[in-house]
Amino acid sequence: MSTSSRKKLYIQEVSVRDGFQIEPRFIPTEQKIELINALSRTGLAKIEVTSFTSPKAIPNLADAEAVMSQIDRVDGVIYAALVPNVRGCERALACNVDEINLFMSASHTHNLANLRMTQAQSLEQFRQVVDYIDGRAAINASLSTAFGCPFDGEVPEATVLDLVQRYIDMGIQAVSLCDTTGVANPAQVARLCDTVKQRWPDLILTAHFHDTRAMGLANVLAALHAGVDRFDASLGGLGGCPFAPGASGNVCTEDMVHMLDAMGYDTGVDLTRLLEISRLLPEIVGHDVPGQVAKAGPYTRRYPVPDAVRNI
Ligand code: COA
Ligand code: ZN
Repeated sequence: MSTSSRKKLYIQEVSVRDGFQIEPRFIPTEQKIELINALSRTGLAKIEVTSFTSPKAIPNLADAEAVMSQIDRVDGVIYAALVPNVRGCERALACNVDEINLFMSASHTHNLANLRMTQAQSLEQFRQVVDYIDGRAAINASLSTAFGCPFDGEVPEATVLDLVQRYIDMGIQAVSLCDTTGVANPAQVARLCDTVKQRWPDLILTAHFHDTRAMGLANVLAALHAGVDRFDASLGGLGGCPFAPGASGNVCTEDMVHMLDAMGYDTGVDLTRLLEISRLLPEIVGHDVPGQVAKAGPYTRRYPVPDAVRNI
């Protein structure tokens, strides 16, 4: 593919939020800031820096203010934060976040488990937040369990479409469809993304997949072919919702960028730099991480020809 014809994709990093929220130990604030500052210089379109949730619910991100206000902001990168309610929104705006990422679940029970609210109460919070923000920050609305729920099972497509419509009716123009526990399959992703893209062609649509059942990258491709050009992913493949049993990591950023680069897409991300940063992760989190390309090296890696075959 020539440079001019390469399709532009937007890679949105969530490791420092989705990833760190479920780690068994608190990552020191300084290390979070260093990591975000390094990630900021790799060409990522957006970084979800933290969440302004209850520190009792998510103790690992209790330092949200310190992280958000001490990172270096690099031009061109959107610095977002996850927010569950008006209180979180006040905190986030006080730190000048570029984008508020509101969230609720497409399924009843996960919304109760995660947010201790009914879906109707969450929608009411969304309305209040939209009023409160009054244009002072961009808004994205995430729909967790959009492809299935660990408690309620199947989530009807009609429910997802109805909630997207409600977001749009509130004036929200950007939506993420999230597969919180990695239950989506590529055929399902293709159907839902295709319907959403056809019904709301101007909606800014993000796909957010977890790789819990090894369908993550296949789902990225299915969404891509349905016209989605924004993807959340997590360095090293960290991630997971503490209130969703069986949750595990997001699609791994460097593995996804590696695949998309190899296919000729323009991710804008410096893969070499991303791999260097990813290789620091096991030390930061204190355990091995799922990402594969950081271990195997990119597909262009070559090994020395073995002596035994050299003279054949
Ligand atoms: N930031 C900081 N503190 C907050 C807060 C916010 N956004 N929202 C509520 N709180 C505090 C309250 O002040 C109260 O504190 P107190 O016990 O010291 O008085 C406490 O949290 C409970 O508040 P309440 O309104 O009763 O909330 P709740 O217990 O019903 O919990 C949420 C509701 C939304 C605050 C909580 O479930 C939450 O933060 N969930 C986040 C889930 C999440 O991030 N999941 C991972 C992402 S998928
Ligand atoms: Zn997630």
